[in-house]
This record gives sequence, C-alpha cells and structure tokens, in this order.
Amino acid sequence: MLQRDIVGLPTSIYPPDPWALVEQEFTPRYLAETESIFAIGNGFIGMRAVPEEGRPYVERGALINGLHEQWPIHHPEHAFGFAEVGQTIIAAPDPRRFHLYVDDEPLDLRHGDIRTYVRRLDFRTGQLTRTIEWRLPTGVRVRVTSAALTSLVQRHLVAARYEVEVLDGNAHVVVSSQLRNVQEDARSDDGDPRKAKGFDHEVLVGEGARADGRRSVLSYRVAQSGMTMACGIDHLVDGDAVVDEQCTADASLGRLVVTAAMSSGQRLGITKFAAFHTSAVNHEGMPTHPQRLADRCDRTLDRAIGRGWEEIAAEQEAYLERFWDTADVDVQGNPTVCQAIRWSLFQVCQATARADSRGIPAKGLTGSAYEGHYFWDAEIYVLPFLIYTNPLLARNALRFRHGMLDAARRRARQVNQKGALFPWRTITGEEASAFFEAGTAQYHINADISHAVMKYTQVTGDEDFLAECGAEMLVETARLYADLGFFRQGDDGETFHIHGVTGPDEYTTVVDDNAYTNLMAAANLRDAASTVEWLRTDRPEDHARLLRRTDLRDEEVLHWRRAAEAMYVPYDEDLGITPQDAHFLDLQRWDFEGVPREKYPLLLHFHPLVIYRYQVIKQADVVLAMFLHDDWFDPEHQARNFDYYDPLTTGDSSLSTAIQSIVAARIGNDAKAIEYFRYGVFMDLANVAGNTGDGVHIAAAGGVWLSIVHGFGGLTDTGDQPDFWPRLPSSWDGLAFNLTVRGQLLRVEVSRHETVYTLRGDEPMEICHQGVPTVLQPEMPTVMELHPTLTVHPQED
Ligand code: BGC
Repeated sequence: MLQRDIVGLPTSIYPPDPWALVEQEFTPRYLAETESIFAIGNGFIGMRAVPEEGRPYVERGALINGLHEQWPIHHPEHAFGFAEVGQTIIAAPDPRRFHLYVDDEPLDLRHGDIRTYVRRLDFRTGQLTRTIEWRLPTGVRVRVTSAALTSLVQRHLVAARYEVEVLDGNAHVVVSSQLRNVQEDARSDDGDPRKAKGFDHEVLVGEGARADGRRSVLSYRVAQSGMTMACGIDHLVDGDAVVDEQCTADASLGRLVVTAAMSSGQRLGITKFAAFHTSAVNHEGMPTHPQRLADRCDRTLDRAIGRGWEEIAAEQEAYLERFWDTADVDVQGNPTVCQAIRWSLFQVCQATARADSRGIPAKGLTGSAYEGHYFWDAEIYVLPFLIYTNPLLARNALRFRHGMLDAARRRARQVNQKGALFPWRTITGEEASAFFEAGTAQYHINADISHAVMKYTQVTGDEDFLAECGAEMLVETARLYADLGFFRQGDDGETFHIHGVTGPDEYTTVVDDNAYTNLMAAANLRDAASTVEWLRTDRPEDHARLLRRTDLRDEEVLHWRRAAEAMYVPYDEDLGITPQDAHFLDLQRWDFEGVPREKYPLLLHFHPLVIYRYQVIKQADVVLAMFLHDDWFDPEHQARNFDYYDPLTTGDSSLSTAIQSIVAARIGNDAKAIEYFRYGVFMDLANVAGNTGDGVHIAAAGGVWLSIVHGFGGLTDTGDQPDFWPRLPSSWDGLAFNLTVRGQLLRVEVSRHETVYTLRGDEPMEICHQGVPTVLQPEMPTVMELHPTLTVHPQED
C-alpha cells in the first residue's frame, strides 16, 4: 500500500504529446522538478534543464559520468573493514550558458515580461528546445529560440543553438556564450541522506585555460580524487548585424561575447559545440595529463565545427529512429500514459547510450543525488530493457562490472570472505557505502549481477561473453556465497543458511536467511557450476583460462551444487507464505493507521532502530523474488505472499512499484496491477516520491518497461522459451512492444481478444503463448487468441 499520492505537474502546463514532453509556461514553483525531467544526457555527459541564461536554477553544471571527488569517511567509532573513502560526483563547467542583454537589459525569466514560453524535450530529435518572446520595458520585442542536444552518437559532444530575432524596433544585442565553472553549485545539506555531499574546498583546480578564435578550452584536476578533465567550447556565428566578437578564457570561465546592432526582422544565431574529456575513473598510476585531454577537446571541436549543427542534429535523430525501432512501446487509447512510457524509455536511453566503460548511476546524469553512484538498480531494473532492446549496451554494462572484479575480490578479503563482493554503491569499484547495515550487508548484489549475466546470455546467445567475462564473475560471486553460508544438519537432511545479510528491503537489516538473497544465491551457485561444467566440456581453452584466473578446484563446484540444493528458504506453514527472513514474522506490525502520511518516507522521520523493529517494508523483497524466480512459487503461494506483503510495503523506494505491478498482474489482482503501474509511470512526471527535483529515478523508468513487458505483456522468461500471458488493462485499446531475441526482432501486439506476434528475422523462433508452444515464421504474423479472464479490469485508469 503506497503511502503516496499522485500530485504533480498539471496537464494544462504539460499537455499530452506522444513524442515529447512540452512545458507551456515557465513555472518557478516546479523549478527543481523540471530541471530533472527536461534534462538531457547521453550516459557520459548529462545536463539539468537549467535556463540557458543561468538563472534561476537549483542545481547546475554538467555531470560527467564518473567525474568525482573523494573524501575520507570519518566513522567516529571505527571498526574493521568499514568503507573508508567516499566518492561524490561533481559539477563540471556548464556549457549551455548564453547570457543575453538587449539594450543592456539582461534576460531573466523571473523578472522579464515573457509573452510566450514553450519548452520541449523531443523524444525523436533528442533535442531540448525553447522558444520565448520577451517584451522589454521600452516596447522592443525579441524572440529567443534555443536548442541543445547531448550527442547520443559522439560521446564527448554537446551542441547548442541560441538565436535572437528582433521583432520590432532597433536593439543593441549582446550574447555571452559561456562555459562556466559553477563551483558554488547548490547542493543542499538538509539531512536527506539521498542527496549528494557539498564541498568546502575548491574541487576543480585549474590546470590551464586558453582562448583562440571563437574557442576556449579549460582544464582541471580534481583536488582529492586526482582525476583530470578538460572541456572546451567553439562557435559558429550567423547574422549580418554583428559588430564585435571577443573570446576569453580563465579557470572560471570560457566565453565568446558577440555584439550586434540589430533592427526589426534581423537575427543573430550562435551555434556552440562543447566537448568534455576526462581521465579514467580509476586510473592506475598518473591520470591522463590535462593537456592531452585539452587536445582531445580540440579534436572533438574541430570535427563538430566541420560538420555543423544540421548534420549533428540529423545524426541524433537517426540514432533515435533506430532506438525507437527496437525499443518503442505503444499504448493505444491512453495518450497520457503513452507519453509517460516514452518519456521513461527516453530517460533510460539518455542514461545509458554512451555510458560505455562507466556505470549507470541511480539518477542517470539528471542530478547529483545518490552521489552519482552505481547500485544494483542497473542490473535488476535497467539491464533487462537493454538486453531485450540494445544488447550491445547491456554487454558494455556487464563488462564494466567485470572490470570491477579485482576491487570486488579485495573487498571480499576486507570483510573476511572468499571470492568477490561487489560494492553496494560505488563509482570507482571500491565500496562507498558508509552505512553497512543498508550497504555492504546487501550481499544480494553479487547474485543480482550474476542474474543479469545469465539473462544476457540466455536472451542474446552471446556465449563468448559468458566464456570470457561472465564465467569469472559467476565463479567469484558463487565462492562468496559458498563461504558466507553454512550447512546445518536437521531431521529432514541438510540445509544451507546465509546469516547476517540485508535483502532488498532496507527497513530490516542484517537478518538471517533473507528469502530473496537465498533464492538468488542458490541460482548464482547453480549457474556458476553449470557454466564451469559447460566450459569444461565445450570450450576447454576458456576453461583452462578460467582455472588460471581463479585457481578453481573441482571440489568447489561440487560444494556449490550441494549448497544450492540444500539452500534454505523460509516458509511459514500457518500462513502459507514465505517469510521475508527467518525472524520477520516475529516482529510487530507497523502502525499504518497511526502514522500520518507526512511521516513517509520513514527513513527521514524515524531512527533506523525503530523501523527495524517492525514489519514494515521499504520496497519489494519477497515480491521481487517472485518476479525473478516465478517458477519457484506456485500461483496460490504467489497470491498469498503478495496479499501478505502488499499492505506492509510503503513504497518508500521508487524501486517497488514496477515489481508490485507485475506480480499483481500475474496473480490476477487487476486493480493493484494498474494502480502500481500508474505510480511507477508517473514517478517523476507527477513527482510521486516527492524528490524528482534531485534527479530522475532511472530504476523506476526501467521498471516501467518491466511492468509493460513482464506485467501486461505477461512475458516470463525463466523457461526454455519466452512465454507470454498478455493482460490488457481495460482502458487501453491495445499495447505493442518489441523484443530482440538472439538477434531477431519480435513484435508483440496485444489487443482485446488476440495477440499478434511478428518476427523480423531469418530464422523461425519458438515461443509460448499462454503456456502453449508455437513456432513463429519470419515475416508471417501469428495471431493467437487471448484468454478473456486475463484482461486487467482496473477500477480507474
Ligand atoms: C533503495 C535501493 C536503491 C537505491 C538507489 C534506495 O532507496 O532502497 O534499493 O538501490 O535507493 O536507487
């Protein structure tokens, strides 16, 4: 039962549009939220949608994935193995600035007489555009049109246009196009642990600044992490009324100031290209010299200037055409929902497109909250979408995890364990969680990563990845569980237990036999064993390499099989449910009736010890286990579990709603399925969690796709073939989505009484429809009847 209301952005200001998010009025009251939801990014560079003029703002500066400062974590009462170094994403210089002065009046959206205002984030062009008409006190009117994109193709490139047109009268126009170091960035310190840390020291230390022609390039060293970065801007100027141009650069600002004497009907257009390059996140030895990064900026800018705005904009559009071709979800009959779904997928696209060799932060690059850290959000909530729509990006994300393996091995030693333990939250690969109860203790992250490895392999058939990287990750993660748990002999034989861990629900911590962890660990152990056996028989060279890299012994594999077989998953006979952990049912029930709504999320209002004493859940835990391992629970068991946990689930984490929706759909709880879906799909557009201003919830956005495909589309993929049990909400006329399976594109179109499967590819594909196997032939639509009882009938949609 979510302790939230959907209150948020009014549709009068944000009208439905199938392919864009449009804002028709400047609304300072939603400043923080709109900075997040109109943000643009490509997975390497992200920029909040701050007005070009730089005022007003909540949080600004570009966010570069992985560009971070480090700081010593001070534990007043230290203990062995605590994480010691904090990591926080920092604001890089802001490249989108254009300050405009008309007859020496600065354009400021708060104070100016703004006659029209339209801002648009277009999901097909990938551009954030804005058109305003501004009337000066003198009566002169100007139209200002701007556009910006973060190239989804060219990782290091941002492009922006700023155009001023004088509509009547004569005007002296000055545009200052800037790359501004915004060290004074506002990061509030209001005690909300989800926000990023601010710094007292100078974080970006200048290493060089130069101006030449219309170009300025700045380079820096990050004070304590030692990372280096460079950024630069260059320009094209069009318009015949230009009287002067000046380009300057110092550590705080690179700038081109263009002055024009304009009369009615004349235009001044400035195209700005910006480039960002950084050293590796986890550099061994010296980081790349800032001068070399500055040279790279020069090259990025040379290429961009040579190609121009039109070509770069066309390239962006072509990228998105391909993206939507494989990733689009179309809901017929509900334009608002359709828009929100596409916005969510577009956000995931922006968070992942060029994240190669870095991770996927919890907020993408739309805000600095959660310090820019990577969590399990990526593997469980985002990767499924990538695996089924853009497998290359999924592989890159998994390769990135593989690159963390040595750090994970070290971390396992620090917590006195064998194998590898991936960090709960990190940028560099080192554990950055200072709160071990809800951090390091979440040992399930190992199995979450292994789950993603297996799912990627199963859906794509990419056995090379499994052999080269995946197997090593499976071995080291399995080793950790084998070492962490223990066998207990009982009357019914032996059982394997894992104690002292935290499951996904952070409102009970350091518990014994968390059902989710145990089920996921069992799968991890089994998958590791079968992968090693497969390598031994099918790929002896890869097997030999794996043995060299991991010192694996045969008896370990036997041990994993035995542990997986004996894995204990708690069960309560009286209630017929899976207890979340061994002692969960002994806790008191939380007083939902007595605690008012404004006390949620509980983490901001109650000491953790209070929360831990009750049956109250932050986010899906057993319910998530049922989604990921639905073959382990029979349908009645699933229904009993859902009915037990649903009233206890606060949804204080945005990771909850999608999963609740999917499982509700599967057990036929139609009303809940659609209710949770609505919360999920409007999580940020309607500010459901109340903190959209801190950045977009990327896991929730990925969860939207999960609920569509696995909930209403009814895909279960735990068996040999994908099996679809579609359930169409009664207020939708139809639902269509695409999946890429083993390189072939499968389109699924669900209408009220039938589902049509169309395969774009060369090979037949075997699927199941409502449990019945069928073979699809390429380019021949297969029409299957829909069992009527599976249609979701929401009370309200
Ligand atoms: C959730 C975690 C999640 C993190 C980042 C927390 O509130 O409890 O499961 O990984 O947010 O999104």
